[in-house]
Order: sequence, then C-alpha cells, then structure tokens
Amino acid sequence: MENCFKFALVASLCIVIHFAQASRCPLSEQDQWKEFRNSCYFFSETSTTWQSAKESCEENGSHLVDILSRGENEFIHQRLNTYRYSEDYYIGATDRQHEGYFVWESTRSALGYKNWNVGEPNQHLGTPENCAEIKTDNGKWNDVPCDIVMRFICKRPVSRE
Ligand code: BGC
Ligand code: CA
Repeated sequence: MENCFKFALVASLCIVIHFAQASRCPLSEQDQWKEFRNSCYFFSETSTTWQSAKESCEENGSHLVDILSRGENEFIHQRLNTYRYSEDYYIGATDRQHEGYFVWESTRSALGYKNWNVGEPNQHLGTPENCAEIKTDNGKWNDVPCDIVMRFICKRPVSRE
C-alpha cells in the first residue's frame, strides 16, 4: 500500500513537471507553438502579406523566424511536412532595404547560414521579390514578392519562469 502511495506521488510529480515544461511556449487551442532548442515557433494557419505577418508575430511577442542553422531548418521543414499542407511559409529574410542584400528582419544582420533553392534568390522575371519563403516540399528558400498572401512562421525565446 505504501509503495502504491509512493508510485502515485512520483506519477503526479511527473505530470506536473511535464506540464510545467510544456508551458515554456505559449499554449494555443490549435497547438501552433512548438519548442526547439530554447526557442518557440508559431506556425500560422492563416495567410497574409509579409509585412502583416511580421506585425502579427510582433503582436505575439515574437518575430518572423530567422533560421540560423541546418538543424533549425530541418526542425522547421519537418514540422511543415507533418502538417501535410502544400503552401509555402514566409520567413524573416528580406532585401527590401538593399536589393540583393538579404538580412534577417529581426536583427538586420546578414544571413549566416543560408539554404536558398537552386537559382534563388532570382527576382523572377524581373519582378521585385524582396521577401523570402521556405518551401514545404524541400525546405529550401525562395525570394518572392512581399505582397503574396501565405502562411508564416514566428519565433521567440522560451519563457524563463
Ligand atoms: C516563383 C519565383 C521562383 C521561380 C523558380 C516562381 O513561381 O514565383 O520566386 O524564383 O518560381 O522557378
Ligand atoms: Ca524567386
């Protein structure tokens, strides 16, 4: 009986710890926030322009995602695949300040890690393409016109409490 009590105590402690950890990222009904290496990522279910995606991330205490490593890109690409949704997603890279010079909007720093698709960025057919997307099929990046309406990914640090 005493063992049984100990077991119940440990089990409930585990459940409490599990939920305490799970809440390092915001909770949402649609479970859109995911945690990876001390950051939280929001995968939108609605579509909008790049500027309005940026503002929407900022309203949530986050920013359009900056992708700083291959591991991070793989995490994001895998998530997109698990949604089984074919639309591409906006990321935070833009060259709207200086044509041909892409930066991460949140820090205005030049891209370090890069994962452009073959031939990108290309200002396709001479049309201004000053914002970047990540492609759901292969996880590669492409420059697109900023007024295209699509889903987007936000990022913020995990909460420290
Ligand atoms: C996209 C361009 C891209 C091109 C690649 C087009 O549909 O709008 O951004 O560079 O495909 O072939
Ligand atoms: Ca392009």
